Amino acid sequence: MVKKLYNGVEIPSIGFGTWQLTENVEAVIELALKAGYVHIDTAAIYGNEKEIGNAIRSNGVDRSSLFITSKVWNSDRGYEATLKAFEESLERLQTDYLDLYLIHWPANENRENAKQENADTWRALEELYAKGKVRAIGLSNFLKHHVKDILEIENVKPMVNQIEFHPGYLQGDTVDFCTEHNIVVEAWSPIGSGRLLEDETLRGLAAFYGVSVASLCIQFALQENLVVLPKSTNPVNIHNNLHFERFVIRSEDVDTIKSMPLNGFSGLNPDEITF
Ligand code: A2P
Repeated sequence: MVKKLYNGVEIPSIGFGTWQLTENVEAVIELALKAGYVHIDTAAIYGNEKEIGNAIRSNGVDRSSLFITSKVWNSDRGYEATLKAFEESLERLQTDYLDLYLIHWPANENRENAKQENADTWRALEELYAKGKVRAIGLSNFLKHHVKDILEIENVKPMVNQIEFHPGYLQGDTVDFCTEHNIVVEAWSPIGSGRLLEDETLRGLAAFYGVSVASLCIQFALQENLVVLPKSTNPVNIHNNLHFERFVIRSEDVDTIKSMPLNGFSGLNPDEITF
């Protein structure tokens, strides 16, 4: 299952999330590759790019069969620093191009010249794209108003915005705005980093469909037209998150999920972060 970005690049709809994956990285990535994941999502700040690169190399996977995303960290914002950070990510991942490169978090009003900083960082991504070093560029954790700022200055429109998205935290404003502008939305923490596994509403619905809460959350994101990035270090869960039997959540149940109160939120508000 793939989605097409507006520039024609195909992105696999289920990717392997690697935030907080810092132990046994090579073994876990090997499990994911063997399970059939071709889309791996990482970031410089995750501290696992080198191990991911090692795992890809030692498993003899053809680079062109993979879709690899990384992100520029907040301390590397700005034009020159971003170009340098990109090269360092390539080196650690042991590849000569990325499929997708994202600005990890918007500079927010806690910083002076936030808009200029975001614009300078975006200009670096545009340059990497123009030079063919990356097949697509985008944003991460950009709320509607941050995306708007980029749309006002861009030469190349972002292809992706990766945000926290799961039942109990849908960020409708941002998702709708991105969709209107042909920007594919990716869901990080689609299971609320596991916080949703015990949710009574979701458990009831999962039982009705005969699936796990994790599968229900992943299917919900897919059905809402998002790319979804579940995380796991458990071999069975890694496999099941990619290969669960497909089902369709009925519209009344979609409505139920959409009307759930706030739940599973990470607490990381892009307008408020200070890191
Ligand atoms: P585990 O590593 O034991 O599988 P998210 O993708 O929202 O960040 O959620 C990640 C959390 O959800 C992890 O704690 C992970 O634990 C758990 N998880 C991921 N997939 C499943 C699954 N299929 N069944 C149960 N728990 C899962």
